[in-house]
Amino acid sequence: MAGSRLGNARGSTILVGVKIDLKPLRIGTIEIRLPVVLAALAGYSDHPYRLLCRQGGAMFCATEMMLDKSVLVGGKLQRQMLLKSDADRPLAGQLIGNEPGTMARAAGLLCRLGFDVVDLNFACPVHKALRRRRGGYFMRDPEAAVAIVRAVVAACDRPVTVKLRRSYEQADTANDAFWRMAEGAFDAGAAALCVHARSVEARYAGKADWDFLARVKEHFRDRTIVGSGDVLTPALALRLLAQTGVDGAAVARGALGNPWFFRQTADLAAGNEPYAPDLAAQRAVILRHFEHSCEVYGPVRGPKVMRKFGIKYARLHPHPKLVRTGFIGIRRPDQCRPLIDELYPESAPVPAGKE
Ligand SMILES: Cc1cc2nc3c(=O)[nH]c(=O)nc-3n(C[C@H](O)[C@H](O)[C@H](O)COP(=O)(O)O)c2cc1C
Repeated sequence: MAGSRLGNARGSTILVGVKIDLKPLRIGTIEIRLPVVLAALAGYSDHPYRLLCRQGGAMFCATEMMLDKSVLVGGKLQRQMLLKSDADRPLAGQLIGNEPGTMARAAGLLCRLGFDVVDLNFACPVHKALRRRRGGYFMRDPEAAVAIVRAVVAACDRPVTVKLRRSYEQADTANDAFWRMAEGAFDAGAAALCVHARSVEARYAGKADWDFLARVKEHFRDRTIVGSGDVLTPALALRLLAQTGVDGAAVARGALGNPWFFRQTADLAAGNEPYAPDLAAQRAVILRHFEHSCEVYGPVRGPKVMRKFGIKYARLHPHPKLVRTGFIGIRRPDQCRPLIDELYPESAPVPAGKE
């Protein structure tokens, strides 16, 4: 079948015009038809953005990581973090923390609040988290991580999943801690693992090790494994699934500023050209995002949150540099909405680019 080629960063291509059979992703009893899902993204995978990703075709999303203690303390922050809706399901609530009892109590609360999955973060490479023995710290102490998984599983009446990295040290190619943590987590009752195929030391730099993901899936043939790392385009999402055999692909940086990523992936898998939102479609989504952010975070923080997203939305605009510079230049909340109107005009022609 003739078809145009979509290149990608790994030098491989996906043929438009060729259908790819995608198997649903299963997490416990939950079946997710499109196995390409929105990853947990601190500062980004909040309720307003998740809803836009759902409209853009995402069938499963994760919240930003939430500190167990903060989840247990009431208040505004807790209300904002825990915000969700029926249109935003099935949804994983991600917890970070270091003490089995507190993690279990926070997980129990997420279940009572109606989160469909509880996800445990043993992957975060941020120094503050590592210093406080949270997130990626556990890639050095797999037994302590497994104790948390065991306590959380006992407190939950729904699937518990685990996010981890391939190792702590970049030079560690034996991945001993990974295997101990992965085996231990499944033995403790975890329903799935999401594996970020980089070391904690590498943070987000360098290429994700997809060969490692293939080895993990080969080892855990009958378990659910979601791969993460370098899923930057829809073509790469399909490539990751095909090349490694994992059950699902988690989209992180690839979905920032592109909530249409999921339907684009489905288009590509169906053999079609991926949907390309025109400026009017971008305007509609960005305005909805702005309004919802202001509702959730208020008239001062809402526009600040939007500034960060606006910089990411720039990538799909015909003049990305102009958009980036515009959002970076915002100093006051009242500058945000007029800037959106200027950069994404209702019907006028696209503003002239200066790059
Ligand atoms: C801005 C940002 C925030 C992130 N926040 C989280 C988080 O809260 N929890 C988590 O498990 N991973 C988090 N991650 C990691 C991603 O979920 C993903 O595993 C990683 O970025 C690799 O995927 P990528 O190379 O396709 O971006 C974050 C990544 C980025 C870039």
